[in-house]
Amino acid sequence: MGCQYFDPCQGGADTFTVAIPKYTFGRGCLAEAGSRAAGLGMSRVALFTDPGLRNGPYVATVLDSLQSAGIDVAVFDEITIEADDQSVERGAAFIADGNFDGVVSVGGGSVMDTAKASMLYGLQPAGDFLDYFAPPLGAGKSMPRQLLPHIACATTSGTGSECTSISVLRITDLETKFVLANPVLLPQEALVDPVCAASLPAMVVASTGFDLLCHALECYTAKAYTRWEKQPDPRKRPLIQGANPWSDLAAQKALEIAGAYLERGVASADDHEARDQLMWGASLAGMAFGNTGTHLGHALSYGVTHLMRDITTDGYAVESPFVPHGISVIVSAPSIFRYTAEAAPERHFEAAALLDCDLRDAGAPDSGELLAERIIGLMRSTGAPNGLAGVGFGREDIPALAQSSARQARAIKNAPRDTNLVDIENIYAAALSY
Ligand SMILES: [Fe+2]
Repeated sequence: MGCQYFDPCQGGADTFTVAIPKYTFGRGCLAEAGSRAAGLGMSRVALFTDPGLRNGPYVATVLDSLQSAGIDVAVFDEITIEADDQSVERGAAFIADGNFDGVVSVGGGSVMDTAKASMLYGLQPAGDFLDYFAPPLGAGKSMPRQLLPHIACATTSGTGSECTSISVLRITDLETKFVLANPVLLPQEALVDPVCAASLPAMVVASTGFDLLCHALECYTAKAYTRWEKQPDPRKRPLIQGANPWSDLAAQKALEIAGAYLERGVASADDHEARDQLMWGASLAGMAFGNTGTHLGHALSYGVTHLMRDITTDGYAVESPFVPHGISVIVSAPSIFRYTAEAAPERHFEAAALLDCDLRDAGAPDSGELLAERIIGLMRSTGAPNGLAGVGFGREDIPALAQSSARQARAIKNAPRDTNLVDIENIYAAALSY
């Protein structure tokens, strides 16, 4: 591909695959849901949303549009802000009993991820909830070749789930989150109406914006797909295939957007340009990580959400303990990119340029520090917690955090640098505060 990063490796993959939904972006496009659903052959729709959105304007717009198109609609809103197995069990029962021929989801990542998994478990129940998850956690049970057609309508500017074949679910008994990834989970259509971003509280824009930023930065600095082992059977190739030329394109633009608009979008709900751009950037970053996989930023966030204690977050009406996903990712990010930069300094330097870092007198060997300082600056200016200590962790928690996050084996292997348990402990130690 004319780029050193993707030079062939012996025994390594020599193809990459791109999967994204049919994608619509624009002010007012939620009102197209009915026509688009009819176009997909839907006549009875399960509409997934959450209690906070249920009686709001976005769901009303989608409901009106569906009903105007002559489509019968039943609403499911028993979804928690962190998508979990219990929400999915309820959603699956709703799907199994409802005789639906389509799904429309309206919400953030939790809503869309619950909708995807509810179709899976509702249409082809698993004996044990973990059966569909990859080993060693689950049994790697085969998913059906087709679920119901799904139109995903994103209402926040971070998750990118409308563009991915991924559902991230909290498993209650294990007190942590795991990833379901399969092409069958990809929505047929994504509708992204940036009008939705105008009503987001500042801390939600910050958290989701950091999620966007880390999706893009982790994709851009992930291990190259050519360094993953070649899988001859195309149907067995993982979605987490590593950095590739397609994801680079989307991640580059998403990084530019995060660098230019994250602070502006947090500072003012009236800055429509910034908030519109963040919605677009979130989808781009979703299109990137859905075809790349994330790496240490997300892997190390899982320990944080697993072990958090007695903490709440402004802008989120959620009981303690709760740290929003984007914050759980960003608190370790400066330390992570200081660590990964030496494995791919040029890539990290390019990412620093895209994030609008000050590059005067700097070169590739400085790229980890440049990225770390830039992210720390964004954290400070948006009021994000200062590292792990800012979300209630101390040095004594590091071994448990590392043990918990080390279970995210595939994401850790997607990092550009081989990373063991001691490395993870060292990254966390350097992430306590900045
Ligand atoms: Fe994320």
